[in-house]
This record gives sequence, C-alpha cells and structure tokens, in this order.
Amino acid sequence: MIRQITLPLIPLSLLSVVIAQNFEIPSNWRKPTPTPNRLDRLTLVDGLLNTVSRTLNSSGLFSGLTNTQTANMLCALAIGDYINSSTTSKDVVLNSLDTMFKLIPDIIGSEVPKVNSDPAIWGLAAIYAYTAYRDQVSLQYAQSMWTQLTKDLVTATTSSPRPSGTLNISATCNDASTAGAVFFIPDDPNNMGVNGETTAAFMALSAHLYAQTLIPQYLSAATLSADFIINHLYDGKIILDGMDAGSCSLSSTLVSYNSGFTIDGLSVLAPASGNSSYSSFLSKLISTAVVYPHWTNTANGVIIEGPEDENSATSNGFGVALKAILIRGLYQAYMRNLDNTDQADFIRGFITVQLNALLDLASVTGSNQYSPRWEGPPPKALLPWGQLAAADVLVAALGLADARNSSASPSPPVN
Ligand SMILES: *[C@@H]1O[C@H](CO)[C@@H](O)[C@H](O)[C@H]1NC(C)=O
Ligand SMILES: *[C@@H]1O[C@H](CO)[C@@H](O)[C@H](O)[C@H]1NC(C)=O
Ligand SMILES: *[C@@H]1O[C@H](CO)[C@@H](O)[C@H](O)[C@H]1NC(C)=O
Ligand SMILES: *[C@@H]1O[C@H](CO)[C@@H](O)[C@H](O)[C@H]1NC(C)=O
Ligand SMILES: *[C@@H]1O[C@H](CO)[C@@H](O)[C@H](O)[C@H]1NC(C)=O
Repeated sequence: MIRQITLPLIPLSLLSVVIAQNFEIPSNWRKPTPTPNRLDRLTLVDGLLNTVSRTLNSSGLFSGLTNTQTANMLCALAIGDYINSSTTSKDVVLNSLDTMFKLIPDIIGSEVPKVNSDPAIWGLAAIYAYTAYRDQVSLQYAQSMWTQLTKDLVTATTSSPRPSGTLNISATCNDASTAGAVFFIPDDPNNMGVNGETTAAFMALSAHLYAQTLIPQYLSAATLSADFIINHLYDGKIILDGMDAGSCSLSSTLVSYNSGFTIDGLSVLAPASGNSSYSSFLSKLISTAVVYPHWTNTANGVIIEGPEDENSATSNGFGVALKAILIRGLYQAYMRNLDNTDQADFIRGFITVQLNALLDLASVTGSNQYSPRWEGPPPKALLPWGQLAAADVLVAALGLADARNSSASPSPPVN
C-alpha cells in the first residue's frame, strides 16, 4: 500500500557504517525455549493441514482466503513438505497453482485494482512448490511471473516516463539509482508508486529462481532490486513500504512483510552472490526488524501486528495474516545460515515465542484453530486467516526441531 508522505531521507553514509548486531534474546520474551518435541510439532502441522487442504475450491483458492492469502498459504504448505521430505500437500499445492494459472494466466487478470504484488507472490508460491516437489510446470509458472514483472522493473536504461505515461521516473533519488524498483500498479503508466510488497517479493523470487536454475539474469535482477531496497527503503531498522519513483517521497506505512520478503530474498542472495555485504546487511536487518515495536510487543516478544481487537480478528481485513511473511523470511535466513549461531539462536528463540503464544494463548489445545491475534483469546470458530498466520510458524517450528535434533546442518535447496 502506498501513501505519499515524505519522510526525511537517510544519508547514504549511514548505510555503510557497520553496526554490530545485537542477537541477545531479551530477558522478557515469553517462552523462547522449545517445548513441543518433533513428533508433537508434526501433529500440529498435520492438524492445521487437515483444516486447510479440504477448503481448496474450483477457483484454485482456499475458501475464505483472498488471492494473495492463498498464495501465501501455498508457500507455507510447500515449505512444510520440503522440511518434512514429504508430499502431503503436493496435490493441493499443484492443483491450486494449475487452476489459478489456467483461469488467470497473468494472475492480475480482472482484479481491481490490478497490482503487481500478486504475480510476485504467486511466483514465489510456484518457486517454493518447485523447490519442494521438483515439478517443472511450477518452475515455468515462476519464470513466467518473473518475465511479466520485468515489464514494470526500472532498469538503468528504462526510458523515462513509463511506456505511454507522461510523468518522469527519477533516475536517481538521494544520489542512488532507482534501478531495481518494480511498479506496484501495472496498468497505470502515471502511477510512480514502487513498494516493498512488489519489489522485495520480486527480489526474493529472482533470488530463489537463481538458486534453482543458476540462470544469471535472475541473479542480476535480485542484485539490482536488493540494492534498490537497501539504498532507498531501509530506514536503519526496517524496510519501509514504498517510494514514489517520480518525486522520491517515501511511504510512512509500517508493515512487517516488507522486511519479511527482503530477509527471505537476501538469505538466498547473500550465499548465491558470494558478496558479504549482503550477509552483513541481512544480519543487521534481522536484529532490528525482529524487535521492532510497531509489530513486536516489547514486553513479551509476541507479534501483535494485524488484528488488534477481537472484532478485527474475526473479519478478514488487510494485514490480518501477513505477519506470516516475516516468520517465513526468518526461517529461510535461519536454515540457510545455521553456522551463524548467534543469529540462528535469536531467530529460533523468536519463532519459538510465537509458537508458544499460538499454543498457549491463541488456541484451545488440540483444536487446531488459531486466532490471528497471537496474544489471544482463542477463536470461537475456525478463521481461515488465523490458520494462514499460524501456518508459517508451525511449519518453521518443525524445521527448528529438525535442526536442533541433528548433528549436521540441513542442506539448503540446490544452489
Ligand atoms: C531426535 O531424533 C531421534 C531419532 O531420530 C528421535 O527418537 C527423537 O525423538 C528426536 N528428539 C526430538 C526432541 O525431536
Ligand atoms: C510428514 O511425513 C510423514 C511421512 O511421510 C507423513 O506421514 C506426514 O503426514 C507428514 N507430515 C506433514 C505435516 O507433512
Ligand atoms: C473460492 O473461495 C474464494 C475465497 O473465499 C471465493 O472468493 C471464490 O468465490 C470461491 N470460488 C468458488 C467457485 O466457490
Ligand atoms: C520530463 O523530463 C524531460 C527531460 O528532462 C523534461 O523536459 C520534462 O519537462 C519532464 N516532464 C515532467 C512532467 O516533469
Ligand atoms: C557487493 O554489494 C554491495 C552492495 O550492493 C556493492 O556495493 C558492492 O559493489 C558489491 N561487491 C561486489 C564485489 O560485487
């Protein structure tokens, strides 16, 4: 979401200063130490899957979830199978992808307003499906979304203004190139909004595509977009929501998924590029984005983003379930860099806080029904968006149990 509010620009010099990360687990975090064992965690994931899988409908969507939310659920399901080396959700995931891509090949189709974040997140769902199931059609879907998005990618040679538009794109903002940004709105050439939900998801898609195919164009794109995000959207703690590529003004909306997609993409790009500035930046971002008070309760470490009262928890509003994206990104950073033990322990502690909140506060034991309000109370009935928010936590928790219990680090996907 873009709002045109100007914030002070961050001097570039600030970005090159190396700040030591603090990965100390705050003493007031609620239950950062693992409780359920691996078997119990598997039971939790199986229980959640039972509530989700059967709700896939003939539009390729899970009943009660939007287009964007369905794609996020597919990511969690595919990652769950990847972690469990299983194919439990394979049919559901591939079925949903096939149905959507056949009904709406460009994914944006008839949606109002049309937004490029949808092809980006469906592209991510497809590449996660490929990573889990090695299904070639899923890879083709991911590649087709990437190719489509490059039409709205600002490059060093992008003609200014946008094709058939009249407003100029600023080639630089604050002395840094705007190349790497992806426009949010595909069919309005005078809309200069570029945002994290599109650009960071595109960066993550590019990085995953490179890791899976080793095709250089994906690495170049991931690098270009990562540099745009680092130079323009980073405020010293988190990734901001967006920018106007004409006026250079920044959005003041604070949502965790911009940092979540960025963490996901950089955790793949850093090892793939071999450029250590990405891993340093990633660690710095993780240390500050996790404890950011706008979404993490500083009193107990539980994520409070989204529904702040029971009424908003029981209706499916924007953002009600999107905190899952931060957890997904953190899990990717964790499992791809277990050697960074301070960072890995910090992420494990944070995800474990969310897991224990879900189990103790946001659900009735054994119900497999989770409130999107992780500090509770438990829901009175099944809320599809509550299940979505919980899915990435439960799946990541399974992966954390695996890593803890094995002497060898699990290997990241083919690289
Ligand atoms: C660790 O793995 C062993 C053997 O694979 C299993 O028996 C044990 O229950 C696991 N422990 C935990 C805490 O998951
Ligand atoms: C994990 O794998 C086992 C064995 O293949 C399977 O029985 C179980 O349903 C899987 N669970 C999940 C959550 O994928
Ligand atoms: C499938 O579910 C979505 C989300 O609830 C809904 O918008 C759509 O109309 C449903 N499609 C069918 C065919 O029921
Ligand atoms: C766009 O840039 C061109 C060339 O620099 C300039 O002549 C024109 O006035 C600019 N248009 C707008 C709307 O600012
Ligand atoms: C590594 O990435 C940084 C940040 O994008 C960039 O400034 C630097 O030139 C890159 N180094 C190499 C060797 O590519």
